[in-house]
Amino acid sequence: MIKSHPLTSKTLSIPNIGAAAAAALAIITLTLLIVTHAATQVPMTEAEVAVRDQTSVIDDPQASAGQALLFGSAAGVPTDPGGGDDDGEPTDPGGVPVEPQQPGKLFLGAAVEPDQLSNPQFTSTLEQYKFTSLTAENAMKFGQLQPNQGQFNWGGADAIVNYAQSKGMRVRGHTLIWHRDVPGWVNGLSSEQAATALKTHIQQVMGRYKGKIAQWDVANEVFNDDGTLRDTVWLQKLGNDYLAQAYTWAHEADPSAQLYYNDYSAESGESGGSQAKVDAVYNMVKSLKERGVPIHGVGLQMHAQGGYPGSGNAIKANMQRLGTLGVKAELTELDIVDVADQAGRYAEYGRACKEAGNCTAVTTWGLYDGHTWRPGMNPLLFDGNFQPKPAYEALTQAMGL
Ligand code: G3I
Repeated sequence: MIKSHPLTSKTLSIPNIGAAAAAALAIITLTLLIVTHAATQVPMTEAEVAVRDQTSVIDDPQASAGQALLFGSAAGVPTDPGGGDDDGEPTDPGGVPVEPQQPGKLFLGAAVEPDQLSNPQFTSTLEQYKFTSLTAENAMKFGQLQPNQGQFNWGGADAIVNYAQSKGMRVRGHTLIWHRDVPGWVNGLSSEQAATALKTHIQQVMGRYKGKIAQWDVANEVFNDDGTLRDTVWLQKLGNDYLAQAYTWAHEADPSAQLYYNDYSAESGESGGSQAKVDAVYNMVKSLKERGVPIHGVGLQMHAQGGYPGSGNAIKANMQRLGTLGVKAELTELDIVDVADQAGRYAEYGRACKEAGNCTAVTTWGLYDGHTWRPGMNPLLFDGNFQPKPAYEALTQAMGL
């Protein structure tokens, strides 16, 4: 229900001004008021909050109570993120390969560590084969970037961004908000200090790579498998609406960046995936979009094992369902173990991305089996000697590369 705003009614009562002009004046006045408050971090008046909270909780019956609470009140978050002409969509960063270079061409990505980029065997494999996107496996996580408050370690992240820029590759930033890799100093902060610290982290990190990092995992793994919110330090300290605040801050920090949400077990409800989590992600995106909070895509991690995380068709259907909300999807951390036909499964997931219509990339969580978070399980496209496995050809053919 859109609540009227005292200011609007007062403005509209000004004599001799046409209704449209009065409405425009009211919107401009209100926007200026909200922007001023947001900029000065002065708590908004109750009336201003009433206007800002123009949309209520999720209308999806499947939404869990936790989600309704999460998105019901938008403390500190304007419903129009940039005011006026900002529709919350990414602006053109110029030069950075954001969308696939040729229409319909998908990005093929790999997660990398900075030291790998000084290994000629590693970089020649990236450059010789069809890789066009890099994700920072660890270098851009909160604890790696800001281990002590106000002390930033940029070296690793800079190395990845500089290498990618020199090769015309896209970069995915991973990740600004996560329950893991949180440095100890955050735990000792008050709620207000934690909000300021998170906003500062987002501003510093996204500001440094503005126009150079095409896509950020703003938040990673915030839901439990039952669809409720994970009880993280960020939820505890910032409250139920912390995601809306974070995505708004992220868009303000770099309007050209695509803002993603990233998770596992949310790929499909099949084979050990969680339909409750799939729905929780869908409902979160739906609610944020309805409130005009900028969010542009969902990352499906895809750490496949046995039947998990489901068939290519189920994952394609989930991506297409998310597409009805106006967001893109990517397979962001693909690796595959314990399957009879690894190449066939890579091809199945590559086809799912190719056919979904709103999927723009497949990224594997590492380049070769010599460096993986699943040691000894040979989950990737290249073997320990950087030789392509049948999975490489199978995936890239299915992706149409
Ligand atoms: O950088 C320190 C190093 O200084 C220290 O000597 C060493 C030994 O303690 O640890 C190093 O940090 C490790 C870091 O990887 C870099 O190697 C952390 O302990 C270790 O926990 C961290 O593991 C990473 C894990 O996320 C947790 O951040 C894995 O490499 C990484 O592959 C994994 O990736 C996650 C995604 O971010 C999210 N989705 C799931 C995926 C797999 O868990």
